[in-house]
Amino acid sequence: VQQLSTLSLWRDATRQARARGQSVGLVPTMGALHRGHEALITAARERCDEVVVTIFVNPLQFGSRDDLELYPRPLSADLALCETLGVDFVATPAVSEMWPNYPTSEVTSVVVPALSDLWEGEQRPGHFTGVASVVTKIFSVTGECTAFFGEKDFQQLAVIRRLVDDLALPVTVVGCATVRESDGLALSSRNVRLSSSGRSQALGLSRALSELATSQRRSVSEARSLMQQLLKEHDVQIGYAEVVDPLTLRAWSDEDHGDARAIIAGIVDGVRLLDNGPVTIMRAEESRAAGH
Ligand code: PAF
Repeated sequence: VQQLSTLSLWRDATRQARARGQSVGLVPTMGALHRGHEALITAARERCDEVVVTIFVNPLQFGSRDDLELYPRPLSADLALCETLGVDFVATPAVSEMWPNYPTSEVTSVVVPALSDLWEGEQRPGHFTGVASVVTKIFSVTGECTAFFGEKDFQQLAVIRRLVDDLALPVTVVGCATVRESDGLALSSRNVRLSSSGRSQALGLSRALSELATSQRRSVSEARSLMQQLLKEHDVQIGYAEVVDPLTLRAWSDEDHGDARAIIAGIVDGVRLLDNGPVTIMRAEESRAAGH
């Protein structure tokens, strides 16, 4: 694996790959790679000729300087894993090159309105603007490619799809299924902060989602109550548990029906956990007629 520490090396590497007729697969990360990232890299390896992983802890998407400074940076372990997984290039740009005007407020940013203000955006003002800005820059340096992101961060994926469409960037975005522990818990670097009882409570999120995905069709309000009930049974403090449009992430009402996304934020042991999954919704009248 070749480490590229400047934007010009990174830009040249992908340009030369395309010039050789090779397709480029891109996996943007902030490092501290885990099995979720491994799945993204494996998907990129399968679909593309040359794979670039980027490792950049983006200061623009952090709420506080403390979080940013405490963020783990195990670079040599990350490089070793990339080597094992057959990654061709790991781009590790410096903050001074990615955001030459940071930490002043004169940093050019990409704002995806509405989508960025909902759900997680309400909790973390500015977060999705930081993500949209860095992802746009990563796409701009990489050039034409297929980029892989996890569905675990469903709102982030929606923001990225929207900016690629709106700005007509030459990038195909691929969302990859959430990687789970064998009991269903979605993989997250935050899981290590759970106590053993918290670890069982946390299963409330994936159980609520699998119940919705596998059982009979429901109306929006029935789906919402089922999620709330299962989360309460597991003593999960609810941030939100909603049925939303998969593209705009706006909450659905009982007038809506069809394929939607169920999104959950739950707090356990003071740790904020996220999960989401597909749900097919029937109209409220149909659901009443079916005697639910
Ligand atoms: O999901 C992440 O790791 C980050 O938000 C991303 C997409 C690499 C942007 O910094």
